[in-house]
Amino acid sequence: MSLKDFKNKNINEKTQGTETLEVEDLSVSDESTDDLSSEDNADHLNNDSNADSENASEKTETEEDEPDEYAENHDEIAKLKAAQEAASGSSELGNVVFIPKEHIGELPLLELHDIYKIYKMGSEEVHANDGISVNIYKGEFVAIVGKSGSGKSTLMNIIGALDVPTSGKYLISGQDTSSMKDDELAAIRNKKIGFVFQQYNLLPKDNLLDNVCLPLLYAGVPKAEQNERAMKQLERVGLADKWMQKPAQLSGGQQQRVSIARALAGDPELILADEPTGALDSKTSKQVLGFLKEINEDGNTVVMITHDNSIALEAKRIIRISDGKVVYDGTAEDYAKLI
Ligand SMILES: Nc1ncnc2c1ncn2[C@@H]1O[C@H](COP(=O)(O)OP(=O)(O)OP(=O)(O)O)[C@@H](O)[C@H]1O
Ligand SMILES: [Mg+2]
Repeated sequence: MSLKDFKNKNINEKTQGTETLEVEDLSVSDESTDDLSSEDNADHLNNDSNADSENASEKTETEEDEPDEYAENHDEIAKLKAAQEAASGSSELGNVVFIPKEHIGELPLLELHDIYKIYKMGSEEVHANDGISVNIYKGEFVAIVGKSGSGKSTLMNIIGALDVPTSGKYLISGQDTSSMKDDELAAIRNKKIGFVFQQYNLLPKDNLLDNVCLPLLYAGVPKAEQNERAMKQLERVGLADKWMQKPAQLSGGQQQRVSIARALAGDPELILADEPTGALDSKTSKQVLGFLKEINEDGNTVVMITHDNSIALEAKRIIRISDGKVVYDGTAEDYAKLI
């Protein structure tokens, strides 16, 4: 989707007249200052195809160095499937929807009903998501884990209202997004979802405060209130004293904390983090995961996409996908026993 319609709806006077970008909008992305070139934006607007091409190059390196990291472990998958089937009493995993016991009786925040995303490649069809049914409740911390090509990004794009399924229904707080048009999806993203990306996607020429203000700028919040709310979030991630610095002056972990602050600024119903520790060393990853846990403990719903079991285990609940299907959906505790 081009940013045009989205901008027409959301941008205030300050940004009117700036260039329209031919890249996918990711809700928190766009120029907020007058001096940004479209190149800068294209750089930070890390849409999914960029992310995937980065992953692809990482993959090549990984395959050379550690051949198994991205390969599916079929024994593990078989064990997870068998455990799920035994727990549910059904061999039709697609029809089984896990409900954490503390959320029984609640209405889900996110409802995925039999989601298929099918790509046509010439005469072949790729079932990137192949009948996924999942409910996610307010206040959960869920990791969606799967190896390369399992369908994580495809699912994240649907959950993040960046794309719609080929068939099936996806509801966010009861609102069905499956047949929404681009501008309606953009409005949902803007209001309900805060994104955290592997590469942070901060605007390089803006200071931290302006970066965190972005979702509020889109929401049409007056500037003084934007600053006040953004500063609160910077305080929350321990970076308020650096508000006037530029992203490049920070470490990777600090930049990711700024991006978490930005995701939180608009007070969204869902924080959607795509490989949030993918670019960080293990010590910094732990800190960033600590922040995600903390914001979850404060009541935020967090969904995190990762290919790494050890990262996924930091969440409360794990959904494992393989070949576009759910092969495990349950507590992290139970998952740990099975892998
Ligand atoms: N736009 C597309 N056109 C055709 N096939 C696609 C498209 N996007 C994804 N696929 C295919 O769908 C499947 C799932 O892809 P997806 O990007 O969701 O996997 P992933 O789990 O995110 O992988 P990775 O960890 O490598 O990012 C793959 O087989 C992929 O090749
Ligand atoms: Mg991906």
